[in-house]
Amino acid sequence: MSDDAAIFVGASTADQYLLLKYANRHGLIAGATGTGKTVTLQTIAEGFSAYGVPVFMADVKGDLSGVSQAGGSNPRALERAKQLGIDGYGGRAFPTIFWDLFGEKGHPIRTTVSEVGPVLMARLLQLNETQEGVLNIVFRIADQQGLLLLDFKDLQALLQWVAENAGSLTTEFGNVSKQSVGTIQRQLLTLSQQGGEGFFGEPALVLTDMIRCDPSGYGAINILAADRLMQSPRLYATFLLWLLSELFESLPEVGDLDKPKFVFFFDEAHLLFDDAPKALLSRIEQVVRLIRSKGVGVYFITQNPLDLPETVLGQLGNRVQHALRAFTPRDQRAVKVAAETFRPNKAFDAAQAITELSVGEALLSFLDAKGVPFPVERCFIAPPQGRIGPATAEERAAVIAASPLAGRYDTAVDRQSAYEVLTGRVTSAAPEATPPRRRGQYGSVPPTVPTTTGPWGPRPAEPSSTAEHEGAPGQRPEPRLKKAQPQPPAPEPRKAPAGRQRDSVGIAVAKAAGRSMATIAAREAAKAVFGRGKAASIGASVGGAVLRGVLGSILRG
Ligand SMILES: Nc1ncnc2c1ncn2[C@@H]1O[C@H](COP(=O)(O)OP(=O)(O)OP(=O)(O)O)[C@@H](O)[C@H]1O
Ligand SMILES: [Mg+2]
Repeated sequence: MSDDAAIFVGASTADQYLLLKYANRHGLIAGATGTGKTVTLQTIAEGFSAYGVPVFMADVKGDLSGVSQAGGSNPRALERAKQLGIDGYGGRAFPTIFWDLFGEKGHPIRTTVSEVGPVLMARLLQLNETQEGVLNIVFRIADQQGLLLLDFKDLQALLQWVAENAGSLTTEFGNVSKQSVGTIQRQLLTLSQQGGEGFFGEPALVLTDMIRCDPSGYGAINILAADRLMQSPRLYATFLLWLLSELFESLPEVGDLDKPKFVFFFDEAHLLFDDAPKALLSRIEQVVRLIRSKGVGVYFITQNPLDLPETVLGQLGNRVQHALRAFTPRDQRAVKVAAETFRPNKAFDAAQAITELSVGEALLSFLDAKGVPFPVERCFIAPPQGRIGPATAEERAAVIAASPLAGRYDTAVDRQSAYEVLTGRVTSAAPEATPPRRRGQYGSVPPTVPTTTGPWGPRPAEPSSTAEHEGAPGQRPEPRLKKAQPQPPAPEPRKAPAGRQRDSVGIAVAKAAGRSMATIAAREAAKAVFGRGKAASIGASVGGAVLRGVLGSILRG
């Protein structure tokens, strides 16, 4: 790829391009409602896809799903193409993978409680410091005892056990207040009622499933249905943060590439920062800063640039600013801040222009060939080739059915974990209940639909993912805590009432098998993250942090 490969984003007197080699210097798309943010995002995302860069974005209003269908007939898009003199403008459908935390409008996305870790879980459950401390202890006990925390049942069961044994745990772990445990349990219940429970479990998302190209070399456009999810803003923000952290943790350092490996669009970005505790904020800033060298570009989309902390705003090299209103003093401040973040252009006053921009018009400033921002330009944004607006339910269903991931995530798997151990429901048939081990790109589950030729090429082969991800990151041990699985206990007479076997069983079992198993699991995970050489020197405690994944290691700092 040539050094100046670039996405055509818009034009005024001169064409404006987003250089792929600096696309990992992050970006911002801002503007008041209805000013053209979503269309700009679509144009840029299509540009990445056309260059073979897969992207991820959350579809807050459902209007991004049209990228999966050929557009090109929208009168406003045609008019814009004519205005900008785009030769041969026409429609094109882009390879889209639909995802949905609730499993309704796309492939379900799941992860395990262990992988989310105590820090994000505490935020998700809105815990205070004391309660977060207790949650930390729960995770430590799970690590120590080799108990798998996969889904909510597991966390509930362990919390229950902790409440019952609070007294004896205090010596080793410090004060474990039953009241705090009670609060955590109640919050878990609320989250379940909001549908959050489905997000925790297996099969857990394998990131390389998102980082792929179609057979023609176009990057996948991963779209998360977020309309329902937005009703639980905290779950939305925590999920996106988790995904970002997973990318951060599992991708290797790559330095400067000629194009990014993956681009992450963060819509309604203010939700990430709204009342986030200081420690979390500084870690988000850190992740954003460091993820760049892993070849990931992060683009924040928000109405008001003041919604983002200055330290994050300062890291966003590529900017699109649509119109802002200037009715209130806060509005006026936003206009001023937005204007001041641009390198000035003598030809016009940026602050004034921001209030005058029409729909689909914006102030642009991208990084030039030396990585320095161009002076701000007032431009009309290029029209997307995919459809502007939503795909129909039938179109979406067809895309999902033809997806290269059809059948892989659709059915939840509930294997033996903390819940079964603590409630004495361990079965000797447990090993068979374990899903077949996936080995990255080699472990594709046989498709459940007949072989067809779809937009992703003939099934069941997955040529692009194989080619793209040879030796790619993210091939961590799967599942991560597998080795920590305690052996099924020897059958012993059940004394406790059915379904309610007390601490002694689970913990005695875990004590016998768990400690060494947990150590093995930690080493396995450490190997995956740090490479074999270092693994031996990494102790179980570090491994434990790695196992918890997600900001776990970095958030602790
Ligand atoms: N670059 C463009 N070319 C042609 N039409 C455009 C362009 N940008 C915006 N439009 C038109 O303006 C409409 C509104 O744009 P868009 O949905 O992107 O606004 P938005 O800023 O995302 O609004 P909201 O904040 O409500 O989500 C589009 O449906 C489209 O008809
Ligand atoms: Mg929009």
